[in-house]
Amino acid sequence: MRTLIKNGTVVTASDTFAADVWIEGGRVVALTHPAGRAHGAPADREIDATGKYILPGGIDAHTHLDMPFGGTTSVDDFESGTIAAAHGGTTSIIDFAIQKKGGTLTEALDTWHQKAEGKAAIDYGFHMIATDVPPGQLDEMARIVKEGVTSFKLFMAYPNVLLLDDQSIFRAMLRAGELGALICMHAETGLPIDVLVERALQAGHTAPVYHALTRPEAAEATGTERAIALAEMAQVPVYIVHLSAQRALERVMEARDRGLPTYAETCPQYLFLSEEDLRGKPDDEFEGAKYVCTPPLRPQHHHQHLWRGLANHDLQVVSTDHCPFCMKGQKELGRGNFSKIPNGMPGIETRLHLLWEGVREKRISMNRFVEISSTAPAKIFGLYPRKGNVCIGADADLLVWDPEKRYELSHRNLHMRADYAAYEGKTVIGAPTHVFSRGELVVENDRFLGSRGRGRFLRRSTFGL
Ligand code: URP
Ligand code: ZN
Ligand code: ZN
Repeated sequence: MRTLIKNGTVVTASDTFAADVWIEGGRVVALTHPAGRAHGAPADREIDATGKYILPGGIDAHTHLDMPFGGTTSVDDFESGTIAAAHGGTTSIIDFAIQKKGGTLTEALDTWHQKAEGKAAIDYGFHMIATDVPPGQLDEMARIVKEGVTSFKLFMAYPNVLLLDDQSIFRAMLRAGELGALICMHAETGLPIDVLVERALQAGHTAPVYHALTRPEAAEATGTERAIALAEMAQVPVYIVHLSAQRALERVMEARDRGLPTYAETCPQYLFLSEEDLRGKPDDEFEGAKYVCTPPLRPQHHHQHLWRGLANHDLQVVSTDHCPFCMKGQKELGRGNFSKIPNGMPGIETRLHLLWEGVREKRISMNRFVEISSTAPAKIFGLYPRKGNVCIGADADLLVWDPEKRYELSHRNLHMRADYAAYEGKTVIGAPTHVFSRGELVVENDRFLGSRGRGRFLRRSTFGL
């Protein structure tokens, strides 16, 4: 099957140019001048992209599908989550396998393969969350890297659940450095946070907003600084996940100014939502539970710093940290005790729609939009040049993007399983009309044409930047 996307404007992280894009065998086989000659045999299918952009499919480097967390399980599995992702123009995800306390990394990887196989509708890779790093485990890291899982997430937060002490973090960093793997850090200093939570509850402060008030910016700033310092001592790169606050960003900027290989991502919720959302409604403060995620939403003034960080290359990636829970039966677990609200928000479907608002408002260029949503995660996480670019030989993971298409981000339009939408009532301008995954048209005008189980596991290369 030969497909031609004609008359569109290709946008990559570096260039914007008129071109016809030819797809065959799941790959881009030619880019030709629209007024020039056809490429070989005629196409079996033509898509007219006049007035539209042709972009590489989005890569969401931070998702939690079918993840046990906070006494429940995130409500999107690999089927619903990847179908929702495709609707939003994301064609690859990197999810997190989690080592059980006392279990092995290999067991965790097997478990996550079972969760994804036969279900995922787009391509997927895994990071490995290590919750325990005894010396024997360090050898197992090598086995995991050989399996194409080339990044490890470590936690400085959630004592007794996920938190690792500095010695374990440091050992894991050294080993990751030897293996060419990347350490992704949840950088919040978690032990004092637990004390603040305890004191808030003792004082009778049970509402969702106390989730933010007990996880202050200072906790994230010190965590970020410590993560960077440990990585500097180990002489390895580090990637800070879900960065939410100005002071944490400043720590990243200082490190990068010193020439350290420090990378960081933020998420749409930290660019568009704020602590105000956590306060809920005047007549129902528990509505704020919809917005409980970690790190917490920050006061509005942080937005401008994060946008500037994206524009100035201080932040490299926008991923979603999609970790959806329903209000009914899940977020409700924390009614009367904010610390029991499962942490996480839905977002896998709305990332590109929201980021495009940054393009419309001239906060970032179109090329930067492509870079932070696709090219940079592909490069950082060992998927480039197969993914993350529109070029000959790359997988034909492509979007036809209509910059004028209006789309309401309401629960009734979206495909994620959470029983609410975080941006209910918001209409965006700019959305995909066609989504290709390895040359297969999986979404056309909001209709899903793909199938569950067609997504392939992505064996990623080691860190090469
Ligand atoms: O609230 C969040 N972020 N839930 C997922 C777990 C994590 O720390 O990424
Ligand atoms: Zn985290
Ligand atoms: Zn996460």
